[in-house]
Amino acid sequence: MAGVAFDDRVPKVSLAQASVRAGGCFMRPLPLDGTCASAARSFFREAVAGAGLPGDLIHDGVTMASELAANTLNAHGNIEYGGHGHRPVSGIPEFWLYIRNITVVDSNSARCASGRELVCKIFDSEPGWDAGEPVPIGAAVPAGPDSVRGRGLQMVAGLSAGIWGHHLSRGRLGVWKVPGKAVWFSLRIPATSELARSERLAPRGAEAIEELAAALTDRGLGTGLVPVTEPGGELAVLSVSHKLTVWCQGQAVWWREPDGSYDRMLVTDLTEAVERIIAAHEDLVVAREGSRGAAASKSQDDLPPVNDAVGYPEPDLYGRW
Ligand SMILES: Nc1ncnc2c1ncn2[C@@H]1O[C@H](COP(=O)(O)OP(=O)(O)OP(=O)(O)O)[C@@H](O)[C@H]1O
Ligand SMILES: [Mg+2]
Repeated sequence: MAGVAFDDRVPKVSLAQASVRAGGCFMRPLPLDGTCASAARSFFREAVAGAGLPGDLIHDGVTMASELAANTLNAHGNIEYGGHGHRPVSGIPEFWLYIRNITVVDSNSARCASGRELVCKIFDSEPGWDAGEPVPIGAAVPAGPDSVRGRGLQMVAGLSAGIWGHHLSRGRLGVWKVPGKAVWFSLRIPATSELARSERLAPRGAEAIEELAAALTDRGLGTGLVPVTEPGGELAVLSVSHKLTVWCQGQAVWWREPDGSYDRMLVTDLTEAVERIIAAHEDLVVAREGSRGAAASKSQDDLPPVNDAVGYPEPDLYGRW
């Protein structure tokens, strides 16, 4: 099931069922009170348990996850309550952790080498920032010398060596997969760790497109998805919305970003690909909403489809830890 952490299974499963080491995503809902930070610390430890990672790396990850989770107390404005006992049914903050491949440049030899990093994301259902402007990505966030607040993101910027950021996203848990933002950091996995080489889920061509379509549907982007496979060829195409198309050929997946550039990933990084495609989709939605405000007469047909009405399991999800 989704959220399975590190285990020894051979990755012959779908992306939704894959363990973290095989390319899947560990996910947990975060409490809505002051225990959210300690919950995030436990979730980080749980997610990496048994992975043989160095203690100082785990300590840094736990500290950063704790800070980002504490910040979700700023972002409870879009939580929906319902059912018996008026429980939260969607929009509560979420803890995610997965591994992605990276290309690193050796500063001594100037050669490129591949590696992997742990990515920890804390999702909340408020796309915006309390302080107004989005916090600058990667930068150390200034806090006044005498300030007792405003140091959390600064600490994340420092401990992650600037490898942190935020992007628009959609929830993974909850009855409705609501829009919001993910604030993240990553930590390089040492080459000595088995996780730097573990076998990962790697569907190709049409199979990869099917996995992507399933993952995007699961995040509420279902209405507009049209997978097309070229007969006799390895090329498969997924139309996510009017302005967002994903192609997959062999081991490569690529799509056009809202700024016109192309993003490309390998099929061993489908979890990261899904994150980026959703971010691109949400950026387009925001841009459209902005331009709709500016030109109210614009046709609705041009809007990318956003399907919030995808069915979901029982709301008791939040009771399961
Ligand atoms: N997830 C979030 N949603 C909305 N606003 C946020 C979020 N995270 C941070 N912010 C805003 O950014 C500011 C800076 O966050 P940061 O964690 O650096 O400091 P702080 O939470 O104010 O204090 P400290 O973490 O030092 O106790 C917050 O005060 C808040 O206004
Ligand atoms: Mg903080």
